[in-house]
Amino acid sequence: MDINELINKAKNAREHSYSPYSRFKVGAALKTKNGMVFTGCNIENSSYSLSICAEREAIFKAISAGERDLDTIAVVTDSDKLTTPCGACRQVMWEFSKDMTIVVANLKGEKKEFKIKELLAHPFGKDPLD
Ligand code: THU
Repeated sequence: MDINELINKAKNAREHSYSPYSRFKVGAALKTKNGMVFTGCNIENSSYSLSICAEREAIFKAISAGERDLDTIAVVTDSDKLTTPCGACRQVMWEFSKDMTIVVANLKGEKKEFKIKELLAHPFGKDPLD
């Protein structure tokens, strides 16, 4: 599956976004190393802090399906300025992959690619917890 197909799946997932509070719809599509795809959208709650981002939704779906080898995640919004994943999502990505690719895109067809290492400088790792 090429990157444009993955972006398309994120765009479709974005349609399911439940975001009546922010009115900011986000869709994500995560490809694992063995070619499976898991999608996610942001899901908000009237108790705001219970809301979850599209990226974590997709990652948690993969993990709960037994897929931990994450390869690339595409994230789509309708923002003119391309938006990158929040800090919490970056930390969750780092937990499962030290070299995954993040592609952010908008509905105009603009896109930009990052590696998790550049988005999350000086991450907290689990070594201190061993
Ligand atoms: N959001 C995401 O789903 N992903 C991001 O990378 C940033 C923000 C969601 C959370 C909330 O539902 C809305 O966008 C506004 O912050």
